[in-house]
Amino acid sequence: MVSCLKPQSSNEDDSVILFSTSNSSISPSSSSFNHSPPPSSYKLSIKNLTYTLHPHKTIIPFSFSHLTQKPHPINILKSVSFVARTSEIVAVVGPSGTGKSTLLRIIAGRVKDKDFNPKTISINDQPMSTPSHLRKICGFVSQEDNLLPLLTVKETLLFSAKFRLKEMTPKERELRVENLMHELGLFHVQDSFVGDEENRGVSGGERKRVSIGVDMIHNPPILVLDEPTSGLDSTSALHLKHFQYIFKKELFL
Ligand SMILES: Nc1ncnc2c1ncn2[C@@H]1O[C@H](COP(=O)(O)OP(=O)(O)OP(=O)(O)O)[C@@H](O)[C@H]1O
Ligand SMILES: [Mg+2]
Repeated sequence: MVSCLKPQSSNEDDSVILFSTSNSSISPSSSSFNHSPPPSSYKLSIKNLTYTLHPHKTIIPFSFSHLTQKPHPINILKSVSFVARTSEIVAVVGPSGTGKSTLLRIIAGRVKDKDFNPKTISINDQPMSTPSHLRKICGFVSQEDNLLPLLTVKETLLFSAKFRLKEMTPKERELRVENLMHELGLFHVQDSFVGDEENRGVSGGERKRVSIGVDMIHNPPILVLDEPTSGLDSTSALHLKHFQYIFKKELFL
């Protein structure tokens, strides 16, 4: 079963952070949002969210098709409801395979239109009608790293800034990237390669922070992190947790 915890809360900022973890020991854009100033606070409401996966039938040669059965639908989420407000960090906790990533992907709008139920997610009491509305408001750091190993830390963040901060000049983007690298503790490794399993680059914890930087370059009001500490040793995980709290207090003031 997936549960939602609120491990920490303060009134000092205007962000909501949602993250998933398998470790149970952890103590809008509707069209009106596009044309009005951003709200100063956010309330994300999930109500009776249910998700059933309909797997595709495997394509096999016609002569064997009588041997295959139609795949059964898989009920992944059943009536999930919770509310997350500004200045809160909400943790989604549950064993492997219970639907944490599925839940976070839906909340962050990373699903196809046909898989999205517009009645289940609202922001500031305005129902989100399509996943693209959610994508505009929610930064999403997926469980797997999607970074280019041959780019440096700074190049990676500049690349993201180029796409997400189109209204800024190159100089302004560079300044934003430099500030972000300071905030994420990445300034000293800005010219190191991101790397991957085969070509070693920055450390696992630093790579995770680069992934977070890529998705928070434009200061999304809601940040969704899927297993931000998975694969890290306990010291790196603790560092990242500490960073989350620092980040929560400082970045969205
Ligand atoms: N596209 C898919 N095809 C087949 N099964 C899927 C698909 N997406 C999700 N599932 C199944 O749905 C269940 C929930 O998956 P999900 O990735 O959300 O779990 P999780 O809680 O994030 O697990 P973990 O802690 O291991 O990351 C799993 O049993 C998974 O195998
Ligand atoms: Mg997962």
